[in-house]
Amino acid sequence: MSKPHLSGLTEAEAAGIQIFEKPAPGSWTEALGLDTGAMSFEDSFDPEFYEDEKEAVFRRNWLNLGRIEQLPRRGTFFTKELEFLGVSILVVRDLEDRIRAFHNVCSHRGNKLMWDRDPSKESRGNCRQIACKYHGWRYRLDGEIDYVHNAPEFFDLDPARLKLPPIHLELWAGFIWINLEQEPRQSLREFLTPTVAKLETYPFEKMTRVYTFQSEINANWKLFMDAFQELYHVPYVHGKVTNAALEQTGVDKVPQMIPFFGTYGKHRLMTSGGANANQAVRARRPIDALFQANFIGTDYTPDVGPLGDGVNPAGIENWGVDSWQFYPNFVIITWKSNYWYTYHYWPTGPTSHRFEWTVAFAEPTNTRERLAQEHALVMMREGILQDANTLEATQMGIMSRARNDYYLCDQEVALRHLHTVIQDDVAAYRAEKGR
Ligand code: FES
Ligand SMILES: [Fe+2]
Repeated sequence: MSKPHLSGLTEAEAAGIQIFEKPAPGSWTEALGLDTGAMSFEDSFDPEFYEDEKEAVFRRNWLNLGRIEQLPRRGTFFTKELEFLGVSILVVRDLEDRIRAFHNVCSHRGNKLMWDRDPSKESRGNCRQIACKYHGWRYRLDGEIDYVHNAPEFFDLDPARLKLPPIHLELWAGFIWINLEQEPRQSLREFLTPTVAKLETYPFEKMTRVYTFQSEINANWKLFMDAFQELYHVPYVHGKVTNAALEQTGVDKVPQMIPFFGTYGKHRLMTSGGANANQAVRARRPIDALFQANFIGTDYTPDVGPLGDGVNPAGIENWGVDSWQFYPNFVIITWKSNYWYTYHYWPTGPTSHRFEWTVAFAEPTNTRERLAQEHALVMMREGILQDANTLEATQMGIMSRARNDYYLCDQEVALRHLHTVIQDDVAAYRAEKGR
């Protein structure tokens, strides 16, 4: 409990931090039906676990690859390299305006189809046809074979068998999802669950000023997800960008910043407070005042129309931000000052991953707004670098096997949920294989 402050307020209240109650039976962990025991992080470095996780998790669930704004016109395309699964995916808006995904592989002798200077790198652009660089075969954007160079030289060529191998693709809220199974065991909507699917009413498409960042990190992908699933670390990792009042209140006051945790199928939500809680952590440096922005966004809030009925499903007063953690490796964060961002965590090995961060603001209407966006980005990036900085040290520590398990507090309930679902999925896969 907070110590009483001289004014009769608790220290936390004096610092402007709202106090939120725990749900019955006294903790989020128990309320969400999770075990309270110590947890193993063997899932974040063991090479065998990693191999099974690829099959059990990444090949069996819907994966987000981006948004429809990346394919603005008929004939535009982008490729996505999922090297860890040995898959290159070609996503294209065909000439009938339909978005499709194919394996990015030529039906002749397997050459990779779309790439620029380096076949291992992702590419994007626009085209009327998909042409192979090796022997000139060409495909229509719906995947049908269109031209075979010296066709009479072949034996029993069956055009129906030469189509580009399709990949299941579904759209939700303008986000592009694929599923690598022969037959997905669930539709995308079933996978998302009704509460998560409702977020489609949020006006994502009104915020199109997009910035993207990418980084290779020497830590398991789940460890970075974990770093953004709790605020327990904030006074220590982000001491410099949070305000002094928060630091002084100490870690026991931090849970008040997350008034709501929810789980929906394999997905999670953390909702944090707005005005009070966020004001309390806002550092007001002179440069922040000058640019009218800081590490949680711009001070101004653009008009983007109604936010829809998907945000803040718990009806938190003074709503500030929803962090939607989509299983397995995708996050959407919607902020009170009307911008959103996403994280993707793509494994590249048992102890490494590629982190992608995409920020979407409304188009700035004047120079002040443009500068505020730029400053917010710089400050946010600083915060994210602080989070990333600890990761490689954590990876080294858990790999030493100095311990077999670790205690997690109630504020770490979201990461407990992620590791629990992953470990359950891998266990079910192993049981299926008789292991
Ligand atoms: S491999 Fe593509 S045309 Fe030969
Ligand atoms: Fe952080």
